[in-house]
Amino acid sequence: MKATLLDGKTLARQIRQEVAAEVAELVRQGVTPHLSVVIVGDDPASRIYVGSKGKACKKTGIASNTIQLPETTSQKELLEIVGNLNADESVHGILVQLPLPSGIDSDAVVCAIDPSKDVDGFTPENIGKLLLGTPYTVACTPAGIVELLDRNAVPVEGADVVIVGRSNIVGKPLAAILMQKTAGRNCTVTVCHSRTKDIARYTRSADIVVAALGKPCFLKTDMVKPGSVIVDVGINRVEDPSTPKGYRLVGDADFEALSDIASFITPVPGGVGPLTVAMLLKNTVKVARLAKCGQ
Ligand SMILES: NC(=O)c1ccc[n+]([C@@H]2O[C@H](COP(=O)([O-])OP(=O)(O)OC[C@H]3O[C@@H](n4cnc5c(N)ncnc54)[C@H](OP(=O)(O)O)[C@@H]3O)[C@@H](O)[C@H]2O)c1
Repeated sequence: MKATLLDGKTLARQIRQEVAAEVAELVRQGVTPHLSVVIVGDDPASRIYVGSKGKACKKTGIASNTIQLPETTSQKELLEIVGNLNADESVHGILVQLPLPSGIDSDAVVCAIDPSKDVDGFTPENIGKLLLGTPYTVACTPAGIVELLDRNAVPVEGADVVIVGRSNIVGKPLAAILMQKTAGRNCTVTVCHSRTKDIARYTRSADIVVAALGKPCFLKTDMVKPGSVIVDVGINRVEDPSTPKGYRLVGDADFEALSDIASFITPVPGGVGPLTVAMLLKNTVKVARLAKCGQ
């Protein structure tokens, strides 16, 4: 039996419509949510991401501005800019696009963001709140993954979940969400990484496998049990001379083969990816609403 496709593109569109309705309501109350995005240097991928975030804001009625800084920007200068955005009451959300150029300590910059304006959910305070079970903003990609599972009625409650990848932006916060002692979560989560001795030993027994490591087609059919749920976070470029661009995007899972044995599976592109921006919009509206009325 073919797996059910978890369609992130359609869900992201639906979430954007919901966000637009919330924005319209806030605007009626006199508040236009405002996101400031800071980008340092000329990394092409970062520019594309920042561009798509700006467009998505515009479409939903969120005001946004991008502060484009040269590669030569010092950490001190960047921290000053973040400080100014923290102090600016017209700015509800702040996002510093990562990665930052070498020479700038990303952790120091993320730590400098006012947690109440942290739309990425990356500040130590917001990560801590998530771990304690009282989340404020939650990192967008993991938040998008659980939204995708929940809205497709994928059984998550009490599931055995294996996450391959322990990054601060995907693996760790996702583990924290899924292990929450709350209805619909209560998962038993195992996090694998590059030093895990035998990853297949864990993935084979999982109800849900999340591949978030950045290795094309890493997860194969012999690594999962039939009927499991496959969430593919990876975005990898592989050469493909038959395409106009000379490459195509693939995930961390062998999509074609796994589709034959999984119960649910996310495609790449069109699975988890579109939800990341949708959840950013949600977080921006949330921080704006809380700044206005504390609810
Ligand atoms: N869809 C989206 O919106 C979205 C958002 C973010 C990221 N991504 C994609 O998701 C992937 C992961 O991103 P990331 O930022 O989390 O990456 P990252 O910071 O590079 O972390 C990768 C993680 O995978 C682990 N890993 C690497 N190679 C491995 C291997 N051979 N076996 C087991 N574990 C291995 C690493 O282990 P160590 O900790 O031991 O080094 C690390 O924990 C990338 O393809 C990225 O493009 C997609």
